Amino acid sequence: MNDDIDNGLTRRDFARTSFLAGAAALAAAHATAADLATDTLKIGLLGCGGRGSADLVRMLAGNPNVKVIALGDLFQDHLDTFRKEFETHKAEEVRSKVDIKDDHCFVGWDACERILKTDIDILMDTCTPYARPKHIEAAAAAGKHIFAEKPIAVDPAGVRCFMKAMEAHKAKGLSMLAGTQFRHDGARIETLKKIQDGAIGEIKALRSFYCGGLPFVVERDPKWSDLEYRLRNWYNYCWCSGDNIVEQAIHGIDHCNWVMGGPPESVFASGGRSWKPLTEMYGDLWDNFSCDYTYPNGVHLAQYCRHWDGCDGAGDISLTGTTGVSNGLDMSNWQGDSTIQEMVDLVNSIRGTGPHVHDGQRIAESTITAIMGRMSGYTGKRVTFKEILESDLSIVPDPLSFDMALPVGPIPVPQVKPNAALKYR
Ligand SMILES: NC(=O)c1ccc[n+]([C@@H]2O[C@H](COP(=O)([O-])OP(=O)(O)OC[C@H]3O[C@@H](n4cnc5c(N)ncnc54)[C@H](O)[C@@H]3O)[C@@H](O)[C@H]2O)c1
Repeated sequence: MNDDIDNGLTRRDFARTSFLAGAAALAAAHATAADLATDTLKIGLLGCGGRGSADLVRMLAGNPNVKVIALGDLFQDHLDTFRKEFETHKAEEVRSKVDIKDDHCFVGWDACERILKTDIDILMDTCTPYARPKHIEAAAAAGKHIFAEKPIAVDPAGVRCFMKAMEAHKAKGLSMLAGTQFRHDGARIETLKKIQDGAIGEIKALRSFYCGGLPFVVERDPKWSDLEYRLRNWYNYCWCSGDNIVEQAIHGIDHCNWVMGGPPESVFASGGRSWKPLTEMYGDLWDNFSCDYTYPNGVHLAQYCRHWDGCDGAGDISLTGTTGVSNGLDMSNWQGDSTIQEMVDLVNSIRGTGPHVHDGQRIAESTITAIMGRMSGYTGKRVTFKEILESDLSIVPDPLSFDMALPVGPIPVPQVKPNAALKYR
C-alpha cells in the first residue's frame, strides 16, 4: 500500500505535494529537454494492439526526428503482425521512422521489464488496462518519459500504485501524457478558456453521455486457456478493462473534471446488465451506468454510459451556466486532430520546446472518478472520492499464469450486503 495514503494523505495534500514536486522539478525538466532537443527520440511500444497501432502512427507521423526501436507484447502473434504492419507501412513518414531489430522485440510476461532495459527515451504503454499500474511503476523507476493509454488502472490499489510512481516520476522532471486526448483538442481548450472568462456565466450543472454499442467480443478458441481467453476477449471482464464506465466513459468524465478544475467528492449511481447473455463470452460487465456526481462546490454531473447495440448513440457533454449552455467545444474553429496533437505536445514537452506535460495527477483523479461511479452502481451505496482513494480493493488476480483456472464473475448485483469480492470500504 502507498505509504503516503497510510499516513493520511488526502487528495488535496496529493495535489499540493505534486505541485511542489513539479515546481522543484522544472529545472531538471529543462535540463533533460535541452539534452533531447536535437537528438532522435527513441520509442518503445508495449501492447501491440489496435490502439497501439493508431497511437504509434500518430506519434511517428506527427513528429520529426523520432523513431520506434522496440516492441513488447504478451503474445507473439500480436507483436509479429504489428511489426510487419509498421515495417511495410504505406505512409513514408511512418515507415521511415521504424528501426526495430530482432533483439528489440520482447514477448511474454517480462516484455515490459526487457523493453525498459533498452535505450528508449519514451515508453508508449498501450496495453490492456489491468497491467498498466505495474508497467508504469517500472517505466517511472527506469526514468523513461511515458505515454500511457487510459484508463491507468481498474481498481483503487492500481491507482495508488500509479500515483506513487507518478510522484517520483514527476519529481525527476520527466514527461507523462495520458491518452485522454480531449485535453489536447484545440476546440475544447479554447472553449474552456472562454467559459472560464464568463461566456456562459457560472456553471450550475453538467451532463456527460458515453452511449454506444459493445466494442467487441471474441469467441473462445478451444486451444486457449482461461487466462489467454480473458486477455484476448479482455474488454468483457471487469478485472481486465474496469467495466465500460472506467474503460470508455472516462473521456467525458475527464472532460468534466477539467472544466470543474478537479474531481467530484461523491457519487450516487445505478446501472445494470440489461441484454447481455450470461455466457463466458459476454463476461461479467454491466452494460449501463447512470451516475449523479457532486463536485465540492455542490454542482452536479449527470453521467450516462451504456453499451446497447442498435440504439441511438450519444457521446457529448453539456455544460449549463447561469447565462448560457455549451457542449465544451462550440466556441472555437480549431480543425486539428487531438490524437496527433497529444503526441506533438508530449514530444515538445520532452524537448523543452513546449509546455511541460505531466498528467499523472489528473488521470489518477479521473480514473478514481470513474471507479467510484462503478462501485456506487455495483453496491448501491453512495461512494466518496476519498473512500476509493483509500480503498484496498484490488480486482486483478495476482500472480497471473496461463495454467490457472479463472472463472468469470461474479456479475455485480446491488444488495444491502455487497458481494465481499467487490467491497470497497
Ligand atoms: N484514447 C482512446 O480513445 C482509446 C481508444 C481505444 C483504446 N484505448 C485504450 O488503449 C488500450 C488498448 O486497447 P486496444 O483496443 O488497443 O486493445 P488490444 O487488445 O488491441 O491491444 C492490447 C495489447 O496489449 C497486449 N497485452 C496485454 N497484456 C499485456 C502484458 N501484460 N504485457 C504486454 N502486452 C500485453 C495484448 O496482447 C494486446 O496486443 C486500452 O487501455 C484502451 O482503453 C484508448
